[in-house]
Amino acid sequence: IKRLGIISALHEEQEGLVQAMHGAATVIHGMRDYSVGQLWGIDAVCVLSRIGKVAASMTAAMLVEKFGVTHILVTGVAGSGDAGVRVGDIVIGESLVQHDLDASPLFPRYEVPLTGIANFASDARMSTQLAGAALGFLESDFLEVIGLEDRQVFGLGKPQVHRGLIASGDQFVTSRGHIERLNTSHPGLLAVEMEGAAVAQVCFELGVPFAVIRTISDNANEDAATDFLRFVKSVAACYAFHIVRRFCRQ
Ligand code: ADE
Repeated sequence: IKRLGIISALHEEQEGLVQAMHGAATVIHGMRDYSVGQLWGIDAVCVLSRIGKVAASMTAAMLVEKFGVTHILVTGVAGSGDAGVRVGDIVIGESLVQHDLDASPLFPRYEVPLTGIANFASDARMSTQLAGAALGFLESDFLEVIGLEDRQVFGLGKPQVHRGLIASGDQFVTSRGHIERLNTSHPGLLAVEMEGAAVAQVCFELGVPFAVIRTISDNANEDAATDFLRFVKSVAACYAFHIVRRFCRQ
C-alpha cells in the first residue's frame, strides 16, 4: 500500500487515528478535514466522510484525485442485516450494493446504470488482511480494551467476524419489516449502512482497491437509534482504532 485513505463515519473513530498519526497536517477542503501523515509506518490520509452516499462519494473521489491515495479503507458501524449477525460482531464487506437504487424498468433493480453491476466487489487482499486484523483484535485486545460494564450493557459475548454482503442507502433503517425486506431482496445480506456502496462505486470507476469494515451497533429495528447512539458513544471507536492499527502493522 503506497498511500492509504481511511474514511471514518464517526468523529470518535477519526479522533483516535488522527492522534496516532505522526507528523499529521490538516487540510480543509469541501467541508472536511483531511489529516495527512503516517499511521504505523504507512502513508495515510484520514477523513470524516459525513453521512450518506453522496457525502461518501465526494470524500472518496477527493482522497484519490486531490490527496493521491492508492487504496481506501472504510470503517464505521452498521445495523445488522441478518439474525446471525449480532451487536458487537464485525462485518467485512466482500461486496456492496446500493439498496435504494432503482432505475427499473430501464435497468435491473439495484444495478448501477451503465456499469452492469449491482454488487461491487471489494479488494480481496485488503479484505483478507482486515479479517486477520479483526480476528487479532477480538482474540487479543477485546477483553482488555472493552470494559466488563460495556460488554454487559451491549450483551457482547464472543463477537464474530463475518464476510459477505453489505447494503448501503440514504436511509437509517429503523424497522423490523424494512430490514427483513432488505434481507429478502439481497440474499446473504449481513449489514446495512449509508456509505460503503457509494465508496465502492467510486473506487470501481477510478480503479482504486478498497475495503469496508463495520462493527454492528444495532439491529436496524425500532431500537436502532437508541442502540446506535449508545454504541457509538462507548465502544465503536475502540474497535476501529485497534483494527486499523493491526491492519497497518501486518
Ligand atoms: N448505521 C448503523 N446503524 C444503521 C442503521 N440501522 N441503518 C443505516 N445505517 C446504520
